[in-house]
Amino acid sequence: MSTHWFVLLACAAANPGLAQAPTPRRHVNGILGGSVLLSVVPFPGRKVRTVEWSFGAGTGDTIQLAEFTSAGFERPNPKDQFQQRLEMHNATSLRIKALQLDDSGVYEARIKTTVSIVEDQAFLLTVYEPVPEPEIRSHSLSSTAAKCNITLQCLVPGGERVNISWRRGSPMRDLGDQERYQLSPDGRSLQLSLPLNPLASNFTCTASNPADQKSISPDLQSICQSSRTAPRPCHWKAIFVGVFLGLQICAIVLVNLLHRKMP
Ligand SMILES: *[C@@H]1O[C@H](CO)[C@@H](O)[C@H](O)[C@H]1NC(C)=O
Ligand SMILES: *[C@@H]1O[C@H](CO)[C@@H](O)[C@H](O)[C@H]1NC(C)=O
Ligand SMILES: *[C@@H]1O[C@H](CO)[C@@H](O)[C@H](O)[C@H]1NC(C)=O
Ligand SMILES: *[C@@H]1O[C@H](CO)[C@@H](O)[C@H](O)[C@H]1NC(C)=O
Repeated sequence: MSTHWFVLLACAAANPGLAQAPTPRRHVNGILGGSVLLSVVPFPGRKVRTVEWSFGAGTGDTIQLAEFTSAGFERPNPKDQFQQRLEMHNATSLRIKALQLDDSGVYEARIKTTVSIVEDQAFLLTVYEPVPEPEIRSHSLSSTAAKCNITLQCLVPGGERVNISWRRGSPMRDLGDQERYQLSPDGRSLQLSLPLNPLASNFTCTASNPADQKSISPDLQSICQSSRTAPRPCHWKAIFVGVFLGLQICAIVLVNLLHRKMP
């Protein structure tokens, strides 16, 4: 056993044509429908002769994608999932266009240089869906003429795989000061208690994943205004109870009148 290893090592040292240990995978993020550029960086001083690109989605099979030679760009199987979506950007870079979710996986580049040394470089591509536009739902707590006391909830439709964060100001900075604003434990709802005049605050909710982000800055001025003028739920309750009592009185009077008319 140990002699085998010794022979292998001896061969590796003696044979410069053998593959070198691959460099660590580089992480590349792409967005659905967008494009990415995978660029190999050959060892300094080596001139690239060919680059062979292969792809594995982690399900076992590896497919040969393309070969860059001095003659140009070759696709062994142009009918694979990539079809017309691969391009040779230059001698060392492959562009993948109109990204699909199942393009996520490991791309390997086998670089052959003029001194007959083989280098392997790998890329781990993850394709993300675009982040949906976040929306703000506001709840009025106990706003007064002087203070705006509201909760702002940042919602992302169908966004479980999206990070949500609140920041303030322009340019944006972290929230800080825990007396005037409180963040819910899940980081999505922000409770504010701000002096109304002047209302000098600006808060921004950002939804993000590693490839995309979208932000919204609610118009606090109008939210605070409407939170004061909107009828409180207890007003509606009072009206409801009043109407109900009125109807009941009418019914009693009617029944009494009928009783008197009866012989
Ligand atoms: C190929 O393009 C990449 C990305 O634009 C660039 O970094 C690299 O230097 C280029 N390589 C050559 C050989 O032109
Ligand atoms: C804001 O409203 C909440 C809920 O009604 C209340 O607990 C809190 O004390 C209020 N804050 C201020 C500063 O009025
Ligand atoms: C609030 O901050 C965001 C992010 O910096 C900025 O785009 C927006 O214009 C600001 N809004 C106001 C009303 O200042
Ligand atoms: C959310 O943020 C955490 C910490 O920054 C990060 O590890 C994670 O990958 C992010 N998830 C998404 C979907 O962006």
